[in-house]
Amino acid sequence: MSISLIGKSISESATLKLNETFAILKAKGEPVIHLGGGEPKSKAPIEAVTTAASFLDGGEVRYTPSDGTREMKQAVIRYTEEHYGRKVNPNNVIVSNGAKQSIMVALQAILDPQDELLFPAPYWVSYPEMAKLIGAIPVPVYPEDGSFYPTLKDIEQNVTSNTKAIIINSPNNPTGVQYSEDFVKEMVQFTEKKGIYLILDDIYHRLLFDGKKPVIAYDYVKKSEENSKIIVINGVSKSYAMTGFRIGWTIANKKIVKVMTNIQSHQTAGPSALLQKAAAAAMNGIQSSVENLKTTLENNRNVMLQQLKAFDGVHVVKPAGTYYVFVDFSNFEKDSRKLSAFLLDKVRVLAVPGKEFGLEGYLRISYCGSIKDIIEGIRRIKWAIDPNSPNELYIGERKLVRDWVS
Ligand SMILES: Cc1ncc(COP(=O)(O)O)c(C=O)c1O
Repeated sequence: MSISLIGKSISESATLKLNETFAILKAKGEPVIHLGGGEPKSKAPIEAVTTAASFLDGGEVRYTPSDGTREMKQAVIRYTEEHYGRKVNPNNVIVSNGAKQSIMVALQAILDPQDELLFPAPYWVSYPEMAKLIGAIPVPVYPEDGSFYPTLKDIEQNVTSNTKAIIINSPNNPTGVQYSEDFVKEMVQFTEKKGIYLILDDIYHRLLFDGKKPVIAYDYVKKSEENSKIIVINGVSKSYAMTGFRIGWTIANKKIVKVMTNIQSHQTAGPSALLQKAAAAAMNGIQSSVENLKTTLENNRNVMLQQLKAFDGVHVVKPAGTYYVFVDFSNFEKDSRKLSAFLLDKVRVLAVPGKEFGLEGYLRISYCGSIKDIIEGIRRIKWAIDPNSPNELYIGERKLVRDWVS
């Protein structure tokens, strides 16, 4: 069968594939623990649910404008003013089916085949595949000092005449670290000087712990709105626990928004009227659910760090936000896919291999589930890979016996 070269080059989303594996095991009644997830347990804000329910009740759910409904755009404009201190116009905003589509359509609007797209490593699984979907070239940038914090020098060393855009995701998936204010400022100044697009994937920007504040790239922009190559991406999935609603948005200069709108109009057309209603209601409503989620995540992160601290041989960098911690297991196993498969097989714990994020020897472990799962999940991982563990472990009634050498 003839398949396109681009089609053949795209790999399955590792995180979504693991979600499917989890669902299959769970359906079989296996005592599986999901520490690989990217969605919280909390419910969507009540305003989102009631507004969508009464809209649906009206029975008229129609096409929407390709760049989003007026109401949703207004919600994004208000949000941008409140959280970024930035006044934007409706023609600077396009609403898409999740931040994932926002990023994809933005890349389609600005990249040509063979253009290079830079992003610091480790990186979100979709960035390389999105570049490849356009025939562009993904260029992961590994900080020279081996840390999770890239420097301007790291970026500069990877910029060529083909570099068209850089994506920055802070706080970061998979590491949870927040890049410094100085780094973001340098990136804005550097990309402005070079005429390179700077995409800020801000999907976790409200999920920062320990009183930390998001860094706002706009604060350092010198160019006027319509000449700026800054593209800000955000959405309701992570902060409002609305992953399944699939609503994200982009703020950019109006030329880019127009091109993105043209692309999206042929791709999916405007996002669902129902789900934009729900998203706007969440964004305009009481924000306590975001605060509650943040508090829960911070508490969960603390429990996760406590559990990992008692785990000799693993190395952890404290996450400043997000749902994730990126743990170095290389003292035990350098092949992260092998380790992930081993843990799922032996102790039914799901964690995402670091290789999917561009770094071997690590696992991304999520703390957006329950405290019980965090404690039990880490207990099982420790038992499975620590050579000093006792020979047996009970999972409920089930007795596991170590029949392998770690
Ligand atoms: C870094 C990052 N960007 C974007 C997205 C996409 O979010 P959405 O659910 O809005 O498509 C995710 C989701 O996991 C993410 O982790």
